[in-house]
Amino acid sequence: MTSILENENRKLYVAEIDGVPVGTVRVDSEKYGYELSWTVSPMMRGSGIGKEMVSQLAKGISEPVRAEIKSGNIASIRIAEGAGLIFEREEEGVLYYHRDAIHQPIIP
Ligand SMILES: CC(C)(COP(=O)(O)OP(=O)(O)OC[C@H]1O[C@@H](n2cnc3c(N)ncnc32)[C@H](O)[C@@H]1OP(=O)(O)O)[C@@H](O)C(=O)NCCC(=O)NCCS
Repeated sequence: MTSILENENRKLYVAEIDGVPVGTVRVDSEKYGYELSWTVSPMMRGSGIGKEMVSQLAKGISEPVRAEIKSGNIASIRIAEGAGLIFEREEEGVLYYHRDAIHQPIIP
C-alpha cells in the first residue's frame, strides 16, 4: 500500500457503499494511456460492484486504457467489456483488452 501511494504514476481508487470500502481500481499511468486493474472485497462479489466501479472510472478517462486479465476470469472479462474495452489478444494465459482514446465532441 505504501509503495502504491508513493508512486506518482499510480492511483488507487476505493469504491465505497455507505462509507464502507468494497472494492478498488488501480490506475497506472503508462506511455500509451492508463492500465486498469481491479478487485472487489470477497464478501461483496457477485453483486455488480466490479462492473459498476470499473465502468464509472473508465467513463472519466478520455485517454486509451488497457487491462490484463487472466484467461478464465469470466467476471473480469465481463467487467472489461462493460467498460467498453475490447479483446486484443491472448498470450500465455493472459488476455489483453484495450479501449482507444475517447474524443469528446466540442459543443459550440
Ligand atoms: C473479478 C472481480 C473483480 C469481480 O467482481 P464482482 O463485483 O464480483 O463482479 P460483478 O458482480 O460486477 O460481475 C461482473 C459480471 O461477471 C459475472 N460474474 C460474476 N462472478 C462470476 C463468476 N464467478 N463466474 C462467471 N461470471 C461471473 C456477473 O454475472 C456479471 O455479468 P454481467 O456482465 O452479465 O452483468 C472479483 O471476483 C475479484 O476481486 N477477484 C479477484 C481479483 C481479480 O481477479 N481482479 C481482476 C484483475 S484485472
